[in-house]
Amino acid sequence: MLKLTDVSKVYAKSGSKAVDGLSLDLKSGEIYGFLGPNGAGKTTTIKMITGIITPTQGKIEVCGVDISRDPEEAKRNIGYVSDSHIVYDKLTGREYVDFMATVYGVDPADKRKREEALVSRFRLADAYDSQISAYSHGMKQKINVIGALIHEPALWILDEPMTGLDPESAHELKTLMREHCDKGNSVFFSTHVLEVAEKLCDRVGIINKGRLIAEGTVEEIRGKTTDGSLESGFLTLTEEEDR
Ligand SMILES: Nc1ncnc2c1ncn2[C@@H]1O[C@H](COP(=O)(O)OP(=O)(O)O)[C@@H](O)[C@H]1O
Ligand SMILES: [Mg+2]
Repeated sequence: MLKLTDVSKVYAKSGSKAVDGLSLDLKSGEIYGFLGPNGAGKTTTIKMITGIITPTQGKIEVCGVDISRDPEEAKRNIGYVSDSHIVYDKLTGREYVDFMATVYGVDPADKRKREEALVSRFRLADAYDSQISAYSHGMKQKINVIGALIHEPALWILDEPMTGLDPESAHELKTLMREHCDKGNSVFFSTHVLEVAEKLCDRVGIINKGRLIAEGTVEEIRGKTTDGSLESGFLTLTEEEDR
């Protein structure tokens, strides 16, 4: 579903490796949590997967398509929620979702069905025809998610998706993620908040200073610690790496 082979990124400005020789292989049906402290390289990785920035080295395949060969086709399979908010805030929620549906060539009848379901699950109906500029942080996050999923992409790429969401909406999003994967699709999401990963992920990868330092099920990562918590596993691993 998603495969990275020895991917690195050097930003011209800094000259150091923000991502360093990263390889990942995400199967269908999997929720993969990409964990790491701030500055570890999570957003850089996600921007390479979604084609916003180009890797300095390495290969990225989405549903078997090399994104450097056929970026259009690769992007059709991706639903991307970035860590920063949409800039089209003069539009209403409905207009924004219309816009996204048009960009992805979604059939109008499908679009209506999907938006109805998503708007109701995120309880956004009352605000759907208001300007996004008037939305709270959490509401902007929700409309971002709806816009990203309107073309029913197989692979969801979510950068810190729970940030700013109220507990009910965070729960709803996690439920959607699980339902999506149960249909044989995949979710790749980043977080620096460990509790989010603990219950949700089939597999986690821990990134520190651009390098994948551990990967496995939550249980396997827990097994590497003394007290059996993911948090101490995470701390032990990132500290070992820092020494
Ligand atoms: N546009 C950029 N130009 C130069 N350096 C950057 C840029 N974006 C991120 N970085 C650097 O790359 C590293 C990884 O950042 P980032 O991918 O945003 O990490 P994370 O999402 O895990 O917090 C950091 O050291 C950050 O300062
Ligand atoms: Mg980030």
